[in-house]
Amino acid sequence: MVNMDDKVDIDHMGALMSLPPAPVVLVGVGDEEKNIITVGMFNVFSVRPPIIGIAVTTSRQSYKFLEENDEFTINIPGKELLEHVITCGEKSGADTDKFKLTGLTPVKGKRTKAPRIAECLMNIELKKLRSFEVGDHTWYLGEIKHTDITSDYDRSKALLYWDGEYWTAGERPIKERE
Ligand SMILES: Cc1cc2nc3c(=O)[nH]c(=O)nc-3n(C[C@H](O)[C@H](O)[C@H](O)COP(=O)(O)O)c2cc1C
Repeated sequence: MVNMDDKVDIDHMGALMSLPPAPVVLVGVGDEEKNIITVGMFNVFSVRPPIIGIAVTTSRQSYKFLEENDEFTINIPGKELLEHVITCGEKSGADTDKFKLTGLTPVKGKRTKAPRIAECLMNIELKKLRSFEVGDHTWYLGEIKHTDITSDYDRSKALLYWDGEYWTAGERPIKERE
């Protein structure tokens, strides 16, 4: 049985890093000129209508794309894309074409112009509804317009991120923090 007397104080960053692992997604932004950004700050905001949000900070090249375009995609990578997820989370579209660098394939959306990533397990197309700043990030909320998913999709294979470690719900962790 857990009780308050057994607990110790922890600093704020420690508190954030102690939260359970969350999905890590590849966000496709832009239209003719396009980019990919790895995002861990991801949340479902509404079920009906289906609204998902991602948080991106102003220093990212993708921030400019999200400000200038009304559509974006959220793509769910499987663990075989781990190295590309890391690359898209380290390199900036300001100086690299991440589609060329990784070999990931951009496919224009069915209902939006934003790039989907063919190699991901699931591709969600969103229309931007609103954005707002919270502390050091801007949240972009989008309504789902269309989703493609692999016919044998297994959500336990989707990548999770936890304080420098990558997990799947089935195997923990698949990459240790460096
Ligand atoms: C696992 C992981 C999660 C990340 N989550 C976010 C996030 O939620 N928001 C954000 O702005 N940057 C996040 N980043 C950092 C960006 O992906 C990174 O700065 C990227 O190089 C920005 O690319 P861009 O300049 O082309 O937009 C994350 C990086 C990694 C590796």
